[in-house]
Amino acid sequence: MNYKVAVIPGDGIGPEIVTEAKKVLDKTGEKYGHTFEYQELLMGGCSIDAYGEPLTDETLEKARAADSVLLGAVGGDVGKSGWYKLPPDKRPEAGLLKIRKGLGLFANIRPAVLFDELSGACPLKEEITGGGFDFVVMRELTGGLYFGERKTIEEDGVLKAIDTLTYDENEIRRIARWAFDVAMKRNKKVCSVDKANVLDSSRLWRKVVKEVSEEYPEVELSDMLVDNCAMQLVRDPKQFDVILTENMFGDILSDEASMVTGSIGMLSSASLGATKLGLYEPSHGSAPDIAGQDKANPLATILSAAMMLRYSFDLEKEADAIEAAVKQVLKEGYRTIDIMDEGKTLVGTKQMGDLVAGHI
Ligand code: IPM
Ligand code: MG
Repeated sequence: MNYKVAVIPGDGIGPEIVTEAKKVLDKTGEKYGHTFEYQELLMGGCSIDAYGEPLTDETLEKARAADSVLLGAVGGDVGKSGWYKLPPDKRPEAGLLKIRKGLGLFANIRPAVLFDELSGACPLKEEITGGGFDFVVMRELTGGLYFGERKTIEEDGVLKAIDTLTYDENEIRRIARWAFDVAMKRNKKVCSVDKANVLDSSRLWRKVVKEVSEEYPEVELSDMLVDNCAMQLVRDPKQFDVILTENMFGDILSDEASMVTGSIGMLSSASLGATKLGLYEPSHGSAPDIAGQDKANPLATILSAAMMLRYSFDLEKEADAIEAAVKQVLKEGYRTIDIMDEGKTLVGTKQMGDLVAGHI
């Protein structure tokens, strides 16, 4: 079959890592009899340079017309880049928020898996991580603080900034259903994370998640406060299967989760909505400091491409083949600089992509 993939390389290391993911996709297509037709689109800083805004409506329409979207990373160096002198809604990251909202991608899945081969890169003690861990953070992606009304005003000569955190029950219900559906395919445990001891939005969150859980009697539901969860992630990450949480908590906890796996360079992510169209991107940023130096780890993007095959195209065995190839390359001792360890073989971005493609 032929699949139309909108490709958004973005900024910084984005173009390099996306090139490697395409290499692996093409090899997979060749082996299993599929073709991937890519349409390159601009988003982020490169779109600001070309069109004066981080994501144009035309580009958004092109993404909507594709079967799925593969994204590298957007953004630059906040201290140095002129993009950050623009008003907030014209900066690179605003493109990312706009595409998520515009395509209705309310469910963000970020898997945190400790690969056996990388256990040395994990900063936690062996007694905590022994035997590995494997959980996913299911983050609500189009509501909450990041999409609420915000403004900065001056009151009696004092500057005041206001951000609003809003959730309605329907937004909570649809992401909760996703989390329970995912849990049904895993170890049937959902831990819903909130701040219900303080926030009204969290109290509503807890109530609606509880209601949804009644539709899934086989799944064990627990609630956890977000500050406790931040602690539990480093104290005992093995206790988790699916962590379900709102937008900002999920943003923060998923970075923490990635760190306990050893490298944020390994973490893929999928953003999904009510249709098969999804957006697949690594969980890490654009790392402008190492852009163009063949140093970036392309594995998170390659693993995101595997998620695309699984969630948007239902190509399970093809996705398995990519994941197995990544494991094999790690087993053979190849490492990019971010996951380099004694006695291993250091490779660059391109060679890592070649190695994975070679194992498909
Ligand atoms: C992420 C990023 C984005 C987010 C930023 C760049 C807007 O941190 O994907 O986690 O917060 O969603
Ligand atoms: Mg983030």
